[in-house]
Amino acid sequence: MTEADFLNSTRASYNAMAIDYDERFRDELAAQTLERAVFAGFAELVRNAGGGPVADVGSGPGRVTAHLHGLGLSVYGIDLSPRMVELARREHPGLRFEEGSMLALDIPDGTLAAVVAWYSTIHVPQERLPDVFAEFHRVLAPGGYALVGFQVGDEQRVYTEAFGHEVSLTFRRWQPDRIAELLAGAGLPVRARTFREPERWEPTPQASLIARKPPLPPADDQTADDQTAGDQAAES
Ligand SMILES: C[S@@+](CC[C@H](N)C(=O)[O-])C[C@H]1O[C@@H](n2cnc3c(N)ncnc32)[C@H](O)[C@@H]1O
Repeated sequence: MTEADFLNSTRASYNAMAIDYDERFRDELAAQTLERAVFAGFAELVRNAGGGPVADVGSGPGRVTAHLHGLGLSVYGIDLSPRMVELARREHPGLRFEEGSMLALDIPDGTLAAVVAWYSTIHVPQERLPDVFAEFHRVLAPGGYALVGFQVGDEQRVYTEAFGHEVSLTFRRWQPDRIAELLAGAGLPVRARTFREPERWEPTPQASLIARKPPLPPADDQTADDQTAGDQAAES
């Protein structure tokens, strides 16, 4: 499958089921205690690092974008599906949502405080994940955070029907170790991870990883290095 093929089928599928997806998942976070704790911790980390713009990539109807906004982040949404973007704008008129793909973000280098990909990398073929994480690394400022949520597993599911609509959509499950390895390979070492067993209707365990682009060393370190070099020179 070419890149255009998988992006086109994902886009068309979410266009078809945007309204139903929104109705099904709108209130889901209310029942997800651990996920809300992850978002709260993540928001605090981002705020403590100085804050700044946050992109929720694959934002769908914007429920996570709105939740993160409520936690004090300057967050906006980006989604492949124009119907999802339209819906998110209608549901959250105070927030910004744009059309775009996580494989080629229209964002300048080193400008974001954080990137969130909440159950959206699940539609990207595994061999393209290094490109996605390289893109996250590119747009993050030094010290910026990435949060990735996904179902745990090894298999993929191809759906041809969802909510009564004809779709062509592949859902991929990942092993957290593999995703951590790919994030680290892109220059985003993982700082924290959650794993929980399935609850209610879920068929698989769920995981999230928080990775961080290494911050620049404090200017003082340079002074300390110069000082050490000076001391060593004086002693020799
Ligand atoms: C399972 S939904 C999750 C939506 C939202 N994050 C949430 O938790 O409600 C996946 C979303 O990712 C979007 N998506 C899939 N592939 C994408 C890509 N390459 N770039 C941007 N968005 C993408 C889909 O259009 C869809 O809205």
